[in-house]
Amino acid sequence: MSAMELDIANGDATPGLAHTPTNTSLLVSLRNVRFNWPGQEHDVLNIEEFFLREGERVFLQGASGSGKTTLLSLLGGVISPQSGTIRILDKDVTGMGHAARDKFRADHIGFVFQQFNLIPYLSLVDNVTLPCRFSRLRRDRAVSKAATVDAEAGRLLEHLGLDVSVLGSRPVTDLSVGQQQRVAVARALIGSPELIIADEPTSALDVEARFAFLDLLFREVKESGATLLFVSHDPALQSRFERSVRLSEINSASCHMGEGI
Ligand SMILES: Nc1ncnc2c1ncn2[C@@H]1O[C@H](COP(=O)(O)OP(=O)(O)OP(=O)(O)O)[C@@H](O)[C@H]1O
Ligand SMILES: [Mg+2]
Repeated sequence: MSAMELDIANGDATPGLAHTPTNTSLLVSLRNVRFNWPGQEHDVLNIEEFFLREGERVFLQGASGSGKTTLLSLLGGVISPQSGTIRILDKDVTGMGHAARDKFRADHIGFVFQQFNLIPYLSLVDNVTLPCRFSRLRRDRAVSKAATVDAEAGRLLEHLGLDVSVLGSRPVTDLSVGQQQRVAVARALIGSPELIIADEPTSALDVEARFAFLDLLFREVKESGATLLFVSHDPALQSRFERSVRLSEINSASCHMGEGI
């Protein structure tokens, strides 16, 4: 189905404007965003428009150094653009102060990082429940699904194929890469954030394990109703996604990032 057909099926298309759906269907919309790192001559990102519809699973592809992680940091409110607007859940993230942005991120965005970023001195369950310490909203949502946040962590881990009664007492650093990945996914999903951002979480895996991981991630994201933005420079994964975006196609600064061809 083409983007326009998809818009029409969603009832939100204006013919000819298939790439700009109405705000009601958008979870994320980014307009006229420019960003350059301090001290750098050229913009890393200059994006006229980028959006994610509610419930979409989108693959973002681009060469190393092209600005993928920078874009995710903008979406997460970790950094601010020099100009332009970023709206998430119909809130202007760019207009928020630091504390409000941190809170917004903790409440609404689950990150799966390339290196998982598990905390070595926390237990398996405490690693998963960490976002609930920073977000009352996610804690309340987790508790509404199970009796306690720990019980919800256990439920998610079990769903992802990890037995807490067997693995729970081991340091998380002793878990296999595939197991650590699942812990990182459970941590991103706990408390049902609306947006899941995954920054190359499969790069350490062989091809078969990558597809198995994607299946698992898709199942969980679908069940929670979240929108997924999955970043990778591995084109083999692209066909599994509803939509694929190449950063160089939306980023007019890409000629400075060695991705303009
Ligand atoms: N904290 C930073 N300070 C200054 N420059 C940075 C910083 N982070 C990234 N950059 C620069 O911004 C550009 C884009 O980097 P970014 O990490 O977003 O790329 P990427 O597409 O995620 O690459 P990779 O696929 O290797 O993860 C690079 O030129 C990089 O050197
Ligand atoms: Mg990166």
